[in-house]
Amino acid sequence: MLKILNFSLAASLFAAAAQAASPPSLYTATQATAGAAVFAQSCAMCHGASLAGGAGPALVGPGFATSGTTVGSVFTMVAQQMPLSSPGSLSHAQYEDVMAYILQKNGYSAGGTPLSYAQALTSTTPLVSQTK
Ligand code: HEC
Repeated sequence: MLKILNFSLAASLFAAAAQAASPPSLYTATQATAGAAVFAQSCAMCHGASLAGGAGPALVGPGFATSGTTVGSVFTMVAQQMPLSSPGSLSHAQYEDVMAYILQKNGYSAGGTPLSYAQALTSTTPLVSQTK
């Protein structure tokens, strides 16, 4: 009995540690690189070249992605309302790429599977800035 309890405690501690150490990989490095260019052209004038904020709020750090924020909630907001000056004006690929860039800047690492527009809209993966 004690052994079983110890095992499940160890397993949950391991899961928590793994989560803290490595947030999920949701996009590819190619998308993030392309997203940096999209960001520079369509977002940086309001959110700052390093995402630290300006006319628009910061998109990195503790002020961004507070409790309850998901990849889906941020992506839906971006795809429907950004750029504020011309909402919905980018292509689906450009929205995917810029989301990849935002994830990268918040400490999420790239992986082998690209982020898709449809998947990003409904993603329940928590978006917690890893860069405090
Ligand atoms: C003309 C200025 C402007 C441009 C261009 C712009 N934004 Fe915004 N953005 C804002 C403002 C202002 C807000 C805050 C809006 C609000 O709270 O209703 C905002 C909010 C956001 C948020 C939500 C932040 C939060 O803390 O909830 C995200 C994410 C975002 N913008 C991403 C982008 C991306 C990505 C682009 C480029 C595709 C972009 N924005 C282009 C002005 C801009």
